[in-house]
Amino acid sequence: MTSLAAELSRRAGEAFAAEGLDAGFGRVQVSDRPDLAQFQCNGALAAAKQSKSNPRVMAEKVAARLKADPFFAKVEIAGPGFINLDVTDDVLSRQLAELAADEKLGAPDTGQGRTAILDFGGPNVAKPMHVGHLRSSIIGDCLQRLYRANGWRVISDVHLGDWGLQMGQLITEVEVRGIAPVYFDAGFKGPYPDQSPVSMDDLEEMYPAASAACKSDPARLDAARRATVELQDGRPGYRALWRHFVKVSEEGLTREFASLGVKFDLWNGESTVHGLIGPMLEDLKARGLAQISEGALVVPVAREDDKKPMPPLILVKSEGGVLYGTTDLATIIERVRDYHPALILYIVDHRQHGHFEQVFRAAQQAGLNDGAALEHVGYGTMNGADGKPFKTRAGGVMKLYDLIAMATAEAQKRLAEQNLDADIGQQERGDIARMVGIATIKFADLSNHRTTDYIFDLERFSRFEGKTGPYLQYAAVRIRSILRKAGESGRVGRLAAPAERALALQLVSVGDAMAAAEEKRAPNILCDYAFTLAQGFSRFYTEHHILSETDAELRAARLGLSNLTLAVMARILGLLGIEVPDRM
Ligand code: ARG
Repeated sequence: MTSLAAELSRRAGEAFAAEGLDAGFGRVQVSDRPDLAQFQCNGALAAAKQSKSNPRVMAEKVAARLKADPFFAKVEIAGPGFINLDVTDDVLSRQLAELAADEKLGAPDTGQGRTAILDFGGPNVAKPMHVGHLRSSIIGDCLQRLYRANGWRVISDVHLGDWGLQMGQLITEVEVRGIAPVYFDAGFKGPYPDQSPVSMDDLEEMYPAASAACKSDPARLDAARRATVELQDGRPGYRALWRHFVKVSEEGLTREFASLGVKFDLWNGESTVHGLIGPMLEDLKARGLAQISEGALVVPVAREDDKKPMPPLILVKSEGGVLYGTTDLATIIERVRDYHPALILYIVDHRQHGHFEQVFRAAQQAGLNDGAALEHVGYGTMNGADGKPFKTRAGGVMKLYDLIAMATAEAQKRLAEQNLDADIGQQERGDIARMVGIATIKFADLSNHRTTDYIFDLERFSRFEGKTGPYLQYAAVRIRSILRKAGESGRVGRLAAPAERALALQLVSVGDAMAAAEEKRAPNILCDYAFTLAQGFSRFYTEHHILSETDAELRAARLGLSNLTLAVMARILGLLGIEVPDRM
């Protein structure tokens, strides 16, 4: 459905066009001064500037045309030439009824069936997920839900880090420890054991040990590099061992993502495109795009107008072995070949900005992206109270499952203070606490603009009041309980009071919020929307009777408004990856 703001923009655009001006000046948006008007159009200022005329006079001409349009209840000029607009109650309630009947609940069809590939999560084999991967997962999952709702075909790829030096480090660690000699026996003819010689816990302990050993001992580092090259070249024992690492890690990661409610279409990784790398290198060499520099094969990507030095993208190191950028480049070829995306988004820590800039330039220079837009959607760090990257009390890296357990325990505590219905059993209480714990984490993360660093303050984020996930869940549950008591869901109808109009206006702008969040890749816009909606409902509920309303028509209309608020709230929370419990 067309949003009200879009419809008003069209009408205002016609008014500008009738004055011989660009219809684009007619852009109308929801007013940022709701006390003055529902909508505003600021185009007269820009139009006057362009045509070198008086903005106020320009606004008056356009306003005169709009006043003749029965759509509007109020057309007013404010300040130097802003046009303030109200629509009639009729228009607003018709729009509301359209929203209630819309199976897409107002979602804008911005995708129009185009394909977007979302690369997020990005955990590394053998390493537990840390808070950086948590942010990527939460933001990426929100974007995948939003893009789907907005009519895109979304393919999400967890893109495991499974092919770099850390694999060689682990292989040498296994060798040094003598845990599984068969994988290192060059004479062994196979088949290799089905059972992994290491568990996830083993890997978590071995990886830091191996990486420390490589740091302090150049010979170990050398061995790890050689093992990496041999793994990539296909040495059977190394491949078999590596497959165990990947499988064991995937089992752990699947559990972690499930507890967060995050799903991927593809469990690909850096290794997936190994077969494409050889031909890609040949092609880039043949076309003169890749060249040898200091023994390595590189693609120069610097441009004349670069403000900062831009190093070349290294494809093959001097000692052999491909890198992160090589697999990323080949992955573009694979994605273009298999999915024909219009857009590929990489939701990755903003510190990797330089890396993606190199990869994107190389892809564009070689035409590998085939017109697909490539975009790094970066994000800042989640910090602890000390302003440094979040750590456990003991000072270790905060693992995802520790964080979830912490937030769930906090939710449990807060729910105990809340007077939950006595008939809610132990099992349901546990489920509610889990949902509230996850909402605490996700909303805290998503409500900040993704590029800012933020301090994870569990005490504040878990509160049941203020701008928090639990508050919004609670707001939705409260509406649900009103509807349950009413025993009917009413029907949106006549709007009779300011609080009803304000709430209706928020509801009908849901599509605009979804479009803006997509355009800016900014989940915080959805968080703001949900919070404002909850406040709007709260005001409506304080000012009006619903259950005790004796006028049957009014009661039905208010229930209808409540029901639609619940639907829209649940939809937006759903996009944030937050579930609404039945009761709490
Ligand atoms: N594994 C990487 C990391 O831990 C993130 C991968 C992001 N995706 C990509 N295609 N490079 O930093």
